[in-house]
Amino acid sequence: MTHKSTEQTEHRRQATPQLHPVPSQLISLRMVLRTKNLVRYVFQNQHKLIQQLLVQGGPVRACSGHGGTQQQAQLRVEEDDNFPKITEVPPLAAPFPMKLEHAADVGEQFKYSDLSVRLAAPHQLNPKPDVDDLAFGKYFTDHMLKVSYHRRLGGWQKPEITPMENLNLHPAAKVFHYAIELFEGMKAYRGYDGKIRFFRPEMNMARMNVTAYRSGLPTFESEELIKAMARLVMIDSEWVPHTESASLYIRPTLIGIEPTLGVASSDSALLYTILSPVGPYFKPGAKGLKLYAEPKYTRAWPGGVGDRKVGSNYGPTIHVQQEALRHGCHQVLWLYGDDHQLTEVGVMNIFMLYIKENGERELITPPLNGLILPGITRDSIIRLCHQWGEFSVCERKFTMAEVKKLSQEGRLLEMFGAGTAAVISPIERIAYMGEEIYLPTESHENPLFRRLYNTLTDIQYGKLEHPWAYVID
Ligand code: COI
Repeated sequence: MTHKSTEQTEHRRQATPQLHPVPSQLISLRMVLRTKNLVRYVFQNQHKLIQQLLVQGGPVRACSGHGGTQQQAQLRVEEDDNFPKITEVPPLAAPFPMKLEHAADVGEQFKYSDLSVRLAAPHQLNPKPDVDDLAFGKYFTDHMLKVSYHRRLGGWQKPEITPMENLNLHPAAKVFHYAIELFEGMKAYRGYDGKIRFFRPEMNMARMNVTAYRSGLPTFESEELIKAMARLVMIDSEWVPHTESASLYIRPTLIGIEPTLGVASSDSALLYTILSPVGPYFKPGAKGLKLYAEPKYTRAWPGGVGDRKVGSNYGPTIHVQQEALRHGCHQVLWLYGDDHQLTEVGVMNIFMLYIKENGERELITPPLNGLILPGITRDSIIRLCHQWGEFSVCERKFTMAEVKKLSQEGRLLEMFGAGTAAVISPIERIAYMGEEIYLPTESHENPLFRRLYNTLTDIQYGKLEHPWAYVID
């Protein structure tokens, strides 16, 4: 039937005199070309498009089993040409908006093309430390990047790379009084092939912009700062350790410097980036972490800034960290609420791998409900595990009662912290309300934390080609 009617249509088309055959053929030719171009464009830009689609459409974040079919956002392109078809895309939304509209009154944006460079004189160059002596954030490279912002001068000023030097700030600068300050933590890695790479730098920039917005500080164009930081790293490239056991930590920082004591937004700001060659965040050879879980302390609360990378989230943790050390622990396990929900560990996000009632494994991490820093390592772990599709991955609340129960029933497999500075750190024990909970994280076979560590570092050091690696030279 269908066949017949197609034939009839075809016959009618041939029989009908074509008064203006050229334009109609041209139109369909143009349409075919346009469709092909569209398909090519979609194919080449799928990552950006999906991110935009998902950000606009709201987050898709839920537990998913193997492949997470229920949650998968799908884009189907039905074209019968030679382009590979896009049938499925990763189901996860970005953990924060990847692009912010600048406030109307933010003024001029800075541009990488305006960057000026003032190199350090030979006597200003520092000797490079031995890799074994690096620790975390103890040494700094020879140069830094600075960009000033002054509303009265029209917005962002021209970026400059200068020798590493002290800042000269008025004692009333708002940063000193109201902690109007935020920062990012990124790394540059020297790969096995000698190339230097960043890891998902656009994520750090997007998070920095949402934090700037929350702090009343000016936002900026992410790509311009990435390019300027890449130039800074290339100038100090000999500081990027020649080993896979170390990297160059990058600390972009934004501070409010207006010298007035009113509790108000800062009309002047300074965005700067410093670089520090770093070894492991925890002492080399350190075994699994011992955590101090004391419910009377909390790191963040609903409606606060626990999900933004502001310095004021970290200062108040020092006292509790000291208490943890006094109790023979390495780090604090941050709890929240009467039910003692696990939120973060030290300066890292937390993950737990366990066996569900039905015998299947599941990886869980607390949801992005405002209490949790949307870590880039966290996001990468979730995406990798979704992609592997071997167990379900779930962003959900979990409590100390659940941890205790799983541990007693032998169903708790692993717990680990994840962050840029510390990468992935296995957890061995939790001191909680007079009890010691032991975790078999390092003692069961082929632990997940090690596989994740190896995969992430393989991407970062260029052993595994991956779109998350951003080669800068
Ligand atoms: C990071 O993991 O990069 C952090 O920001 C932690 C830092 C406070 C040491």
